[in-house]
Formats: sequence, C-alpha cells, structure tokens
Amino acid sequence: MSTNSQKPIVLITAGPTREPIDPVRYITNHSSGKMGYAIAGTFLDRGFRVILVSGPVSIGLAHPDLAIVNVNTADEMFAACRQYFPVLQIAVFAAAVADYKPAQVMTEKMKKLAPEFNLQMIKNVDIARAFGEVKRDDQVSIGFALETNDEEQNALKKLFSKNLDLVVLNSTRDNNAAFGFDTNKITIINRDFVFKRFPLKDKHAVARDIADIAVDIRNNVLN
Ligand code: CTP
Ligand code: CA
Repeated sequence: MSTNSQKPIVLITAGPTREPIDPVRYITNHSSGKMGYAIAGTFLDRGFRVILVSGPVSIGLAHPDLAIVNVNTADEMFAACRQYFPVLQIAVFAAAVADYKPAQVMTEKMKKLAPEFNLQMIKNVDIARAFGEVKRDDQVSIGFALETNDEEQNALKKLFSKNLDLVVLNSTRDNNAAFGFDTNKITIINRDFVFKRFPLKDKHAVARDIADIAVDIRNNVLN
C-alpha cells in the first residue's frame, strides 16, 4: 500500500463466507465476488485507498493503493473489518455473509453413520449493522439487498435497520443479473426514499454508478 495517508479510505467486503462444519466441510453462499472487486477497482481509479476484506473467491486484483485481507468465516470478516471502522470514509458491504454458522465445529471428520442428522446453527454477527451502530455522520455506509419477494420493502428495512446511507437492491428477476454473471441490474435507494433504477449493465459500469452516488453523499457530508 502506498504511504499517501491523505487519500480517503474505502472498506469493501466481498465474496462469500465459509462456515466450517468439520475439517473437510462447510456451509456457504453463492457469490463470485465480482461485484465487490469491481467496486474496489472503481474506487482505486478515483484515487481512494481500498481495504478489500474478501471471502474465498477465484478472482484477483492488484494496485499499490489496495490491501486485500483474505478471510474465511463471518467472524474473521468482522474482526478484519472492525479495526478499520474508525478510519474509513466509505464502507461498502458487498459480501454474501452466511447468516448462520454451525453451533459447534467438529474437530474430526464426521462419519456417515446415522441415516440422518441435525445440525444446530447459530446466528453470525451482522457486520453492516455493527458498523451502523458506531458510524459517524462523516462516514458513508452502503449495503446490498438480494430479495426474491417484497423487494423494495425489504431493501428499505435493511437501509434503516443497518443505518445505511444507500441500499443497492439486486434484481433476481433478471436471468443475467447477480450470481456469477458479469452483469447486474440494480436499484439504488437512499434515506429520502429516492429510488434510482438502472438498466442491466456490466458489473464494472454498475460499480461506477454506485461509486458516483457514494462520492456525492460523501461530498455533501463534508460541505
Ligand atoms: N451483511 C453483513 N453481515 C451479515 C449479513 C449481511 O454485513 N452477517 C450485509 C451484506 O453484505 C449486505 C447487507 O448486509 O450488504 C444485507 O444482506 P442480506 O443478506 O440481504 O440481509 P440480511 O440482513 O442478512 O437479511 P436476510 O438474509 O434475512 O434477508
Ligand atoms: Ca442474509
């Protein structure tokens, strides 16, 4: 990372998390990490320092102003993020964090003895919400919402319950949006209930749309 400490800092979470069951098995979510990495690239192009806290993905990114922190579990992602909460200017929570983790991680590989078994799961920490609880007025927080029903209503709930400045609603109705694809169709919603609907675009163009609005909000809070 460059030594230019004048540059504003963006923290971005990306990719899935992996919650271990035993030494050889885990529970995870669909996520290629492409959206989060594209957002990281866009902020680097605009002269920000980027801290990219990434779950396991098969893509990469390199830049002198980029630090990638590789994590597996939601707990690790939270531990990596929280140390940057006081110093970041913009936070973008693009990771598909597993909502639950196994209550106990087996130390030995489970054998397939019983015809069925139950796995007890407990809730993971909500990283975006945790930041929302400590966020200052000069910090901007952006979250994503992927919904299959009552999309806009659910996205609005996330905007306010996590104290976000913007929520980016991903359309699941479009076959070429979200998981694994190079395109995405989003609606960006702010706290004044303004809905900005975008057409299906390449994820890099989507990243620029998100960064444009984030930088606008940041400039407004600084004025
Ligand atoms: N998020 C997070 N930490 C979690 C869960 C979610 O930081 N443990 C963030 C995601 O990165 C995303 C936003 O919160 O920016 C919304 O995630 P989503 O899974 O859509 O919402 P949840 O609050 O987990 O609610 P649900 O899955 O029940 O819809
Ligand atoms: Ca979730």
